[in-house]
Amino acid sequence: MSENQFEKHILCIGAGYVGGPTMAMIAAKCPQYKVTIVDINAEKIQAWQTDDLPIYEPELLDVVKKARGRNLFFSTEIDENIKKADIIFVSVNTPTKTFGEGAGKSADLQYWEKTARNILAASETDKIIVEKSTLPVRTASAMERIVNSNNKGIRFDVVSNPEFLAEGTAVADLEKPDRVLIGSQETAEGKKARQEIVDIYANWVPRERIITSNIWSSELSKLVANAFLAQRISSINSISALCETTEADINEVANAIGKDHRIGSNFLNASVGFGGSCFKKDILNLVYICESYGLTEVARYWENVVKINEYQEDRFVRNINKALFNTIANKRITLFGFAFKANTGDTRESPGIYITKKLIEEHAHVVINDPKALDNARKDLAGLEENLEFEIDPYKATHDAHAIALVTEWELYKTLDYEKIFSAMIKPAFIFDGRNILDHQKLYEIGFNVYPIGKAALTHF
Ligand code: NAD
Ligand code: UDX
Repeated sequence: MSENQFEKHILCIGAGYVGGPTMAMIAAKCPQYKVTIVDINAEKIQAWQTDDLPIYEPELLDVVKKARGRNLFFSTEIDENIKKADIIFVSVNTPTKTFGEGAGKSADLQYWEKTARNILAASETDKIIVEKSTLPVRTASAMERIVNSNNKGIRFDVVSNPEFLAEGTAVADLEKPDRVLIGSQETAEGKKARQEIVDIYANWVPRERIITSNIWSSELSKLVANAFLAQRISSINSISALCETTEADINEVANAIGKDHRIGSNFLNASVGFGGSCFKKDILNLVYICESYGLTEVARYWENVVKINEYQEDRFVRNINKALFNTIANKRITLFGFAFKANTGDTRESPGIYITKKLIEEHAHVVINDPKALDNARKDLAGLEENLEFEIDPYKATHDAHAIALVTEWELYKTLDYEKIFSAMIKPAFIFDGRNILDHQKLYEIGFNVYPIGKAALTHF
């Protein structure tokens, strides 16, 4: 198709975990639109054009290949592509601020604001700007003020369309979303812009799953969805600590409460703690927003979700130290998994980072094993190499180890030959299952001392 045969020109600024998969799905489902993704990171843009994509996400390459070169394009020419676009999705990173006012809590909007100014400077025609990044409630008003401060006679409508995909299942989540949320100003122009975005998703998402709302509800709903999800994990993790001291079993408790349809059974897997680039960042952002409106009690309530998560990570390390006779100095401890969850190579905020650092503080020698996350692990742990090894083979990684700490729930770890692993480990051999995915009884029978989460340990002494 030639340039002007496409019905719409869609641009996405930010080719990361969200921009890449989201736009690939739109392009795959809508051959009538031209979809271009731009980024300041040339290496990433280059990788999106190969079969070695810059992120690992199951089935993503198939989706990309369906549209790449047909109606899906990757580029570093940001200004030129802004000029041509009718609709611009902004999917840049919005990390936690590390400096100045709100450091450690509020969102760092510098990348966001830079794109607003880029759009303003490069545009020659009216545009719809779509907030795809997760943003503090009321960001759209700042965005509108910046872009509509122009004297070029150009109109910009800002629409909020937060993304709910989870990593590891991004393709399935995008293909069949529980809902798509699109918020706008409730003016005639705002609603018209909103409808344009509805029309894109309506190409494959059933209309009843496309929810529209006012723009502030949309922005806030994203933060609240993540806060509620993380709250469930902190709730079950807090109870796992109680189970370990009362001989209750966290899986049995989760099963019993999850059968109540008002509670539901999803997201009740006790773990070593939640990680990922979103939960902590978005809750702290919510906390900061509440504080800035003087809602101190609300802020403290949500802040505790993060505190329980830190407690859970800390407890995991303390349990290792205690079980290994209160000293892990010079002991070889192998981490099974480093990614923040299975089926991704992403390690942002992974509990593995904290656990490794804490183990090294105790002078342990840590071996990291993960099928997809070793490159990121190397970057996360730069400077600590003296006490570290990175080993892709789980059998080599556990050779002469005193203990295994399972951090990520990769299927692979369920299928290993644990008799072989046990025979090559230092005795007594320990295994700490931070995800409760292993067959604990079988491991115990092989000879391991087994420490699950939220269940009594199975020990030989
Ligand atoms: P990411 O870091 O993977 O990608 C962001 C990209 O934006 C980077 O490649 C970066 O180079 C690029 N970028 C930054 N400034 C730019 C600029 N001025 N011009 C062009 N490109 C620029 O981040 P992500 O995980 O994709 O997250 C993006 C947003 O989506 C965040 O707000 C995040 O909270 C939200 N979100 C993420 C997820 C997730 O699972 N990762 C899910 C839902 C929402
Ligand atoms: C999350 C939200 O699920 C998604 O909707 C949003 O768009 C981005 O943030 P993500 O962080 O990719 O997605 O993964 P998610 O599946 O939510 O897992 C987050 C963390 O919680 C992981 O570390 C995971 O292992 C952990 N988790 C999840 C548990 O510990 N127990 C559970 O029951 C579920």
